[in-house]
Amino acid sequence: MHNIKSSLTAANGGPIGVFDSGYGGLTILRQIRQFLPQYDYIYLGDNARAPYGNHSFEVIYRYTLEAVEALFARGCQLVILACNTASAKALRTIQQRDLERLDPARRVLGVIRPTVEAVCRLTTSRHVGVLATAGTVNSGSYTLEIHKLARDIVVTGQACPMWVPLVENYEFDSPGADYFVRKRIEGILRLDPEIDTLILACTHYPLLMNKIVKYTPPGVRIMPQGEYVAASLRDYLVKHPEMAARCTEGGQCHYLTTENTAKFRESATLFMHEQVEVEQIEL
Ligand code: DGL
Repeated sequence: MHNIKSSLTAANGGPIGVFDSGYGGLTILRQIRQFLPQYDYIYLGDNARAPYGNHSFEVIYRYTLEAVEALFARGCQLVILACNTASAKALRTIQQRDLERLDPARRVLGVIRPTVEAVCRLTTSRHVGVLATAGTVNSGSYTLEIHKLARDIVVTGQACPMWVPLVENYEFDSPGADYFVRKRIEGILRLDPEIDTLILACTHYPLLMNKIVKYTPPGVRIMPQGEYVAASLRDYLVKHPEMAARCTEGGQCHYLTTENTAKFRESATLFMHEQVEVEQIEL
């Protein structure tokens, strides 16, 4: 672990870093770039070590910290953890323990807080469902964050361990996906039939949207996170002009992966609907 201050650019500016364990964060990046096209971005997917969902706290924290350091070393002043598992398990520790040592002027933000702020506004039944990886559900982060804003909301979590592998293996529109999507949606609505909003609290899940819509009863809102995370980042940069000034504006996006670049290129086309150039790095 090194001190990042030494690698600051002369202008003290850099791209916005977007990190995910794999490809899922590309769904968030796409929305962020729609809201804030003027900025430069670096996307880092730790594909070689994904999925993070079933790893322990210590492992997810260590992997996420390494990714943040890599993005800081490339000049990022602001890093978004576009991964619920990393946001749930590593964000607070990095903010409270590591930023001071790395560079107190830089910021790391997650995806849970913006999602939670939106769901508290949207739910009318005050019963909310959280569909996520086992790591995110077991962390209790959504319940904790929702109850900080609204104690009256009943939160029910449902781990969907097969959903990420279905997406990663391009099975999201296959008949096989029907079984797993139906099972989890029926499962969570059985646990709490009063749920009126289902948070897709994993960045991979928007790719299963056709199946999710198919098995969600009308009247239950399906809530992907991308637009709320993007809107919250836009608000953050308005409220923090000193940080906005440190984010370079060239409209460029650079992609990094810890795995094979050919597979990343193929998947990025799927997640982003565009062709990308990608560089392989080691963390
Ligand atoms: N992208 C991660 C998330 O949002 C899920 C994938 C993983 O388990 O690594 O939680």
